[in-house]
Amino acid sequence: MRDSLRLIIDSYDPGAPLTEASTIPAPWYTDAPIYDLELETVFAQSWQLVARMDQLVQPGAYVTGEIAGEPIVVVRGADGVLRGFFNVCRHHAAAVMTEPEGTANHLRCPYHGWTYSLEGELKGTPDFSGVCNFDRSRSSLVPVETAIWENWVFVRLGGRLAGVPPTTDLAQDAEATLERFLGADLVNQIKPLDLGSLHWIERRHYTFDCNWKVFVDNYLDGGYHVPHLHKGLDSVLDYSKYMIEPGDHFCLQWSPLVSEGAEAQTGAVRKGDRALYYWLYPNFMINWYSGAMDTNLVIPRGIDKTEVIFDFYFPDVSAAAREGNQASIDVGQRIQDEDVAICKSVQRGLNSRAYNAGRLSVRREAGEHLFHRLLHADLTAGLKALQGNS
Ligand code: FES
Ligand SMILES: [Fe+2]
Repeated sequence: MRDSLRLIIDSYDPGAPLTEASTIPAPWYTDAPIYDLELETVFAQSWQLVARMDQLVQPGAYVTGEIAGEPIVVVRGADGVLRGFFNVCRHHAAAVMTEPEGTANHLRCPYHGWTYSLEGELKGTPDFSGVCNFDRSRSSLVPVETAIWENWVFVRLGGRLAGVPPTTDLAQDAEATLERFLGADLVNQIKPLDLGSLHWIERRHYTFDCNWKVFVDNYLDGGYHVPHLHKGLDSVLDYSKYMIEPGDHFCLQWSPLVSEGAEAQTGAVRKGDRALYYWLYPNFMINWYSGAMDTNLVIPRGIDKTEVIFDFYFPDVSAAAREGNQASIDVGQRIQDEDVAICKSVQRGLNSRAYNAGRLSVRREAGEHLFHRLLHADLTAGLKALQGNS
């Protein structure tokens, strides 16, 4: 199994310059073992967005999520500190918190009623007297690295921690490692956008019948598909001036906006002088226009199933602004609807015996090239680590 995995991974040449490069080969999008390796070495090892800051303002506020198939909960403690844990009861492994979000005084497991403080310490164990050699202090919820950037809370699972009691406070170091991962370049580019002044208003979930990388590739094609697939969006972007600026773990794609000749519905809500599209490896996007932002979180749900969570933000979320904000969300919805069919079509084609890999546009597809090389590096390192462990 691992030999065939290695063959599939090695069939991509990460050293080829963009002018010579091909995409990652089709089996990367269709083979289940690659998918499992990605969960373990890409999603479990990278920083993953788990919540918005506005969901976690008050002590006791919590958000649950799933990263690489692992249940996670982030909660603001009574002491005001934000912490993340594996949402796995230390008794018999049930999920302790079962709602997507909420506010609680303590974290109570619904199975047998074990209760943890907001800081993750085991406090209550009904009907447990007489149990010998049981150290309650070593049965806290297992912590996960948690760090904040701009409007968002990220976690990183890291190596397999199951059963390891929390002996250290992971929070302190985490902020520094997230910042290193993001890189000063990205942090400095995002800071002046003043994202803290935007307010979240709505979340939408989309399901795509494709591998998660098909969605990311589609996002990173430098506007290549926009004139063909998104006529409305195309009417407000200056396609010939669309820029692609890859960083270390991110890629900025941006375009000047034009108002002349704009299709009415899109032109009304895509104003200002430019549109910025940031992709953060592996699966988070920030789409910024003056007066609007949406983010996309891409969650693999299977080899050919992907959920994308869209969060919409605006500077003014008062009743007076509602109509304009809704019109902006509707334009975003239309663009997604236009992408759904093409992503499904690509996934079907990737399964065809007629296709293995394709070439990249030098003018447009530097972002995809970066994505594929980062992925290759992670999968190669991940496979090596797994082989070392076996
Ligand atoms: S599994 Fe949580 S109390 Fe038993
Ligand atoms: Fe698109």
